[in-house]
Amino acid sequence: MNLEKYEKRILVTGGCGFIGNHVIRHLVNKYYDYLIVNFDALTYAGNLENLKDIENYENYVFVHGDITDFEKIQETFEQYQITDVIHLAAESHVDRSILNPDVFVKTNVLGTLNLLNAAKANWLVFPHSLDNHRFHHVSTDEVYGSLDLNPENKFKETTPYQPHSPYSASKASSDHFVKAYHDTYGLDVTISNCSNNYGPNQFPEKLIPLVINKLTKGDKVPVYGTGENVRDWLYVEDHAKAIDLIFHKGKSGETYNVGGNCEMTNLEIIKTIHILLNPTGRVPELNTVIEFVTDRAGHDMRYAIDTTKIKTELGWEPEETFTTGMHKTIMWYLTNKEWMEHVTSGEYKNWLDTNYKDRK
Ligand code: NAD
Ligand code: TYD
Repeated sequence: MNLEKYEKRILVTGGCGFIGNHVIRHLVNKYYDYLIVNFDALTYAGNLENLKDIENYENYVFVHGDITDFEKIQETFEQYQITDVIHLAAESHVDRSILNPDVFVKTNVLGTLNLLNAAKANWLVFPHSLDNHRFHHVSTDEVYGSLDLNPENKFKETTPYQPHSPYSASKASSDHFVKAYHDTYGLDVTISNCSNNYGPNQFPEKLIPLVINKLTKGDKVPVYGTGENVRDWLYVEDHAKAIDLIFHKGKSGETYNVGGNCEMTNLEIIKTIHILLNPTGRVPELNTVIEFVTDRAGHDMRYAIDTTKIKTELGWEPEETFTTGMHKTIMWYLTNKEWMEHVTSGEYKNWLDTNYKDRK
């Protein structure tokens, strides 16, 4: 492979996951002069089927690797002369982090540290110029903790970190390491903290695809606690565009909050999906399918994002409304039933049993 013809050779971690596959598709289609190296361990959440449509692109390579394996990262940096990193690989599900926190520290904290060390070792040495390499870290709004229901209160980039779940604690820790590598070693870094994403290819452990899957099968939808918890929802392709913009135009050392300006309670989400699925004619009455179950431990009440910084500094705004984004999402799940069958056939069954069996 002639690496020299590529202006950038970007290591994208976690490209086989939900957000990662949209980021990869966006980049390979937009930047023919970049080589996109997808580094993914293919955990339960990683699925090569997500990238079937672009797997033969000339500017795309898949590397089966684990970010907890420093040697493999270093080998990949050398083999592809990696110039930049966009880091998405993570354990990403709060409920799993409550049941098994250790792997979250291993992947999210130690894995991120390995990538930072590789970037430092390969980029911060003579004769490389510090200015030509960027490490973009994809993080979550959950690091900021939980808000009350006052609509004036939103997460800003300056909001102090106050993570509550093992997932958000591990992401917060990784964010701090990324900032520390900028402040201590001068690594060129940017961080994005985004709200809840939805869209095609999301694994059905997360609320929206879980509800679509349950309702289309006529199963009951488990609602934690009262169902009044609020999340801000962003269509995944809008997140991919924000990452592209921050990676190219964001200021080194800076954090950018990303959100959909779309706050909804969990019950509102379930009702919306129910209405959109109704025309299929196979969905039972809403009150017969909702099942209130034991609340999530440490359940954050509300997330909301102040997007002023990314809007004013970089000109980013979401393009999809919740209505257009949800239409696209529902259509995708209805026309990709095979995908759902594949991802729910194996480990997923054990997960349902582990997470839901003791919830009354
Ligand atoms: P996901 O769980 O769908 O995918 C994670 C991907 O990372 C999978 O492909 C998996 O195989 C890979 N992976 C996991 N452990 C790995 C390891 N040790 N080495 C290499 N690859 C590994 O996650 P997602 O929802 O696409 O989230 C991607 C990133 O975005 C995460 O960092 C997450 O914290 C962040 N984020 C997610 C959301 C959301 O709503 N989903 C919102 C904000 C931020
Ligand atoms: P989730 O999709 O897990 O995202 P996060 O916890 O990272 O925001 O959950 C979104 C909301 O939906 C959250 O308030 C928990 C709730 N929820 C349920 O009520 N039932 C479920 O079965 C799941 C998975 C989530």
